[in-house]
Amino acid sequence: KMNTFISNLMAKMTLDEKIGQLNLVTPGGAVTGAVVSQGVEENLKKGLVGGMFGITGPAKIRQAQELAVKQSRLHIPLLFGLDVIHGHKTVFPIPLGLSCSWDTALIRHSARIAATEASADGLDWAYSPMVDIGRDPRWGRVSEGSGEDTWLGSQIAKSMVKGYQNNNLAANDAVMACVKHFALYGAAEAGRDYNTVDMSRIKMYEHYLPPYKAAVDAGAGSIMSSFNDIDGIPASANKWLMTDLLRKQWGFNGFVVTDYTAISEMIAHGMGDLSEVSALSLKAGVDMDMVSEGFLGTLKQSLAAGKITKQEIETACRRILEAKYKLGLFEDPYRRLNDQRAADIILSAQNRQEARAIAARSFVLLKNENQVLPLQKKGTVALVGPLADNHRNMLGTWSVSGDFDKSVTVRQGLESVAGNAVNIVYAKGANISDDTTFARKVNVFGKEIEIDSRSAADMVAEAVAAANKSDVVVAVLGEAADMSGESSSRSDIGLPANQQALLKALLATGKPVVLVLFNGRPLTLEWENEHVPAILDAWFGGTEAGNAIADVLFGNYNPAGKITASFPRNVGQIPVYYNHKNTGRPYNNEFESKFKSNYLDVDNSPLYPFGYGLSYTQFQYSDVVLSTAKATGNATVTASVTVTNTGKYAGEEVVQLYIADPVASVTRSVKELRGFQKVMLQPGESKQVVFPVTTELLKFYNSNLKFDWEPGEFIIQVGTNSQNVKSAKVIWNK
Ligand code: IFM
Repeated sequence: KMNTFISNLMAKMTLDEKIGQLNLVTPGGAVTGAVVSQGVEENLKKGLVGGMFGITGPAKIRQAQELAVKQSRLHIPLLFGLDVIHGHKTVFPIPLGLSCSWDTALIRHSARIAATEASADGLDWAYSPMVDIGRDPRWGRVSEGSGEDTWLGSQIAKSMVKGYQNNNLAANDAVMACVKHFALYGAAEAGRDYNTVDMSRIKMYEHYLPPYKAAVDAGAGSIMSSFNDIDGIPASANKWLMTDLLRKQWGFNGFVVTDYTAISEMIAHGMGDLSEVSALSLKAGVDMDMVSEGFLGTLKQSLAAGKITKQEIETACRRILEAKYKLGLFEDPYRRLNDQRAADIILSAQNRQEARAIAARSFVLLKNENQVLPLQKKGTVALVGPLADNHRNMLGTWSVSGDFDKSVTVRQGLESVAGNAVNIVYAKGANISDDTTFARKVNVFGKEIEIDSRSAADMVAEAVAAANKSDVVVAVLGEAADMSGESSSRSDIGLPANQQALLKALLATGKPVVLVLFNGRPLTLEWENEHVPAILDAWFGGTEAGNAIADVLFGNYNPAGKITASFPRNVGQIPVYYNHKNTGRPYNNEFESKFKSNYLDVDNSPLYPFGYGLSYTQFQYSDVVLSTAKATGNATVTASVTVTNTGKYAGEEVVQLYIADPVASVTRSVKELRGFQKVMLQPGESKQVVFPVTTELLKFYNSNLKFDWEPGEFIIQVGTNSQNVKSAKVIWNK
């Protein structure tokens, strides 16, 4: 039915109208490139626009849709997209934070809520999930992904696609997912955004491509090309990537949109003029041009010149029309526009309540010496720091529809959760940064870093005075929202110097200090880890972050998050990730000889390893018991542990399964995550956790890029994080 409908429609379309469908414009909104689209209204009426992004709300979207549907010759509806990344108006934690919940059902639920709000706001299409594997915390966009692990990242990618699309794209409350950034964007050299990527095929297949593939397999309707080059060809012109891999190997049948002006940016990459790069892009398999207007402006001439074929234009046009058809837009172009639904759903009390629970589940307790946390609901708390009462920085990067004024700050959260039982004394204590040049670069979208007119010394003195009057200090420090995210690479990922000075002054008072961190990336925290008794990583927790932080600080919720990206000790160690390979001279964190693969001035291990996170309670693991020590062929071997809550609080634990394959035809990672289960345990309670291990979990890409397993010994590891595991061996023959 769809094919006939589209064939009939295309038979009526002129070449210009077909090319028009490939044109994605923005009248403004979240501008991250140099240009915005011009002459939008005129082009809409002429049928020269396929989709729009950067506008929201039923009224505005109706206005634009009417121009296309009522005034263009063939009445073809527009597709409305937006960066709905971690919630729409009810903002959830940044994706890196969400991933630390290790709760794929919860993450799917957050995407579902985002889809209901976004669709109620008139949108059809969300530019999410961002599934780029990130092993370099200098890269600001690690905040938008699910960390360093391929296996976990793939599960999350799938959950998010399901959450957005809900297996029924035509439903009024579903939006089409757009998996990004295809591909390998997270491996930009030196963590500098948009930078070159150069990677072996085996590494791509093994570590970087699976999350995109998982999203495709989950039915994602669209994919966004990345800015970087791969094998010397920018992704948006890379035929191997867009056609051979994506369509032929993976069977993707949705459409490909470029990132913002990625086509015209290929001129600066050195690939030719606008006409040349547009033709290359279409021929590679790209269907929609975001903002460059290279397709609109040059494809007709390229066709006349024989550089591209009519078939190539028609294929791309058909894919865009298919997306509109699947979204039900031909049936009813206004199906997602309903003022009542928008008023009922968006930022509803229910959604906010869910956001509060989800935020608490994203936090990671990094340190808790002498059980400083949870705080008692009595006495005086000195609440200090530039992020303690700062609406503007609650939501984190890419929360374009979020209204920071509607967010709950930590101060508001503490006041509401503790009520009159606790006396809260607030002092700002420091600016986020005192560096005006740095602040100017960060403050592109607003005033995330505001520099107070008071001197740094006066601000610290005020905070110290508050601390001296208190029983405990809660210092809320870290990054401004836009210190991470797109084009927010940093070469120093520690706390800014002035915040460190504040922290030192607070510690010098001798009061117990709890450090609550806001950050969009792993930070270097060696000094803080050594000196501060309690550290809670709250990332950017979204609309309800302040309440959620208060819930955790006062023990109403026992934190259970585990980091999904290793925290380096210093920048020189980067990249540091748990599933590295052995060298011929492995170093096991004990100095044996100089001539090992190690640094002279820092250990090889990260400060906090992948999978690490504490709880207010303690968990004890039994030894790992395998159902057999020898397996053959497609057997299933079970690996069991008994986990006991030996502490005082009820709590959840993410039990992690890793597999090591010590001998293979290619060098392997020292271990790979292959499973996890989150279990809830009451004090004193024990639970058996059982992981079925099949040969699927033993497979890897060999040097012919064949995905298979090889017989031999495997070490099955189960534990509380990637470093702290118990092991058992199995010999597995074919
Ligand atoms: O979706 C984003 C992308 O992640 C980065 N560049 C801009 C796009 C559209 O806003």
